[in-house]
Amino acid sequence: MKNLLSISDLTPNEILSIMDEADRFAEALKGREVKKLPTLRGRTVFTMFYENSTRTRASFETAGKWMSADVINISASSSSVKKGESLRDTALTLKSIGADALVMRHPSSGAAQHVANFIGDTAVINAGDGSNQHPTQALLDATTLRRQRGDLSGQHVVIVGDILHSRVARSNAQLLNALGADVTFVAPPTLLPIGVENWGVRVSHDLDAELPSADAVMMLRVQAERMNGGFFPSHREYATRYGLSKARHAMLKPDAVVMHPGPMLRGMEINYSVADAPNTVVLQQVTAGVHVRMAILFQLLIGGHSASEPETHA
Ligand code: CP
Repeated sequence: MKNLLSISDLTPNEILSIMDEADRFAEALKGREVKKLPTLRGRTVFTMFYENSTRTRASFETAGKWMSADVINISASSSSVKKGESLRDTALTLKSIGADALVMRHPSSGAAQHVANFIGDTAVINAGDGSNQHPTQALLDATTLRRQRGDLSGQHVVIVGDILHSRVARSNAQLLNALGADVTFVAPPTLLPIGVENWGVRVSHDLDAELPSADAVMMLRVQAERMNGGFFPSHREYATRYGLSKARHAMLKPDAVVMHPGPMLRGMEINYSVADAPNTVVLQQVTAGVHVRMAILFQLLIGGHSASEPETHA
């Protein structure tokens, strides 16, 4: 792998290799007072965020720093992008400064692929592009789910909400299908993309009917910033039909888990107290995100498996 642009570029073995690597990093960090591994000493990682982010940006920065890389954050809102500099010129500038990897979030689908096409030997990691892909989110979701429930094969994962605008749903459907999980999308018809029947998932509009058989339910944020029309009558009606209320939470099997990529809109797609329930693994997802991003930076910048190179985790 030179870049990580899309889950569709990965084989099931490559997906599992990243998840296994993430678990090895988690193990290597366990009980350490000083979380610093020498793995990426001398490597330089730039994060380029053209959209807001808390989790993805902070966990990439943490992942790089815990592996001793130099991590520099570039935010579009405080960079020369504001003066009119193009994405191409910005990316080439950071490469010329010495970037070994660019971690990119951009509102336009295909932006990371576009940079990868001209950037040469600098690694490009897609940290979310429009409504297209969020591969590191899907990898951390799968890692969390496997840590909670074991092998993903045959597990029923119900993904609920704004599928239309969700790069998380697209990446998760591809990854979960690759690992043999059964995926059901639950959404109002207006929030489903054209061609969803070709995504290899089941589609339902009845959340109550799906919850009793779910091993995991993944609630999605309603992405108001990508909506330019009325996709549902009101927030209240959306919450009533598609929100994970206390009553719906009680329909889940005792060992089912509740997931959310964040940021959560409590009271909209998820009830306030359900967001803090013992089987809600939102914060475990965040923690797994650091391990997964360590694994990805390691595999792209060093290559191979760290288990055979114990000094990288020493
Ligand atoms: N899940 C996710 O991508 O969160 P951020 O937008 O905070 O990075």
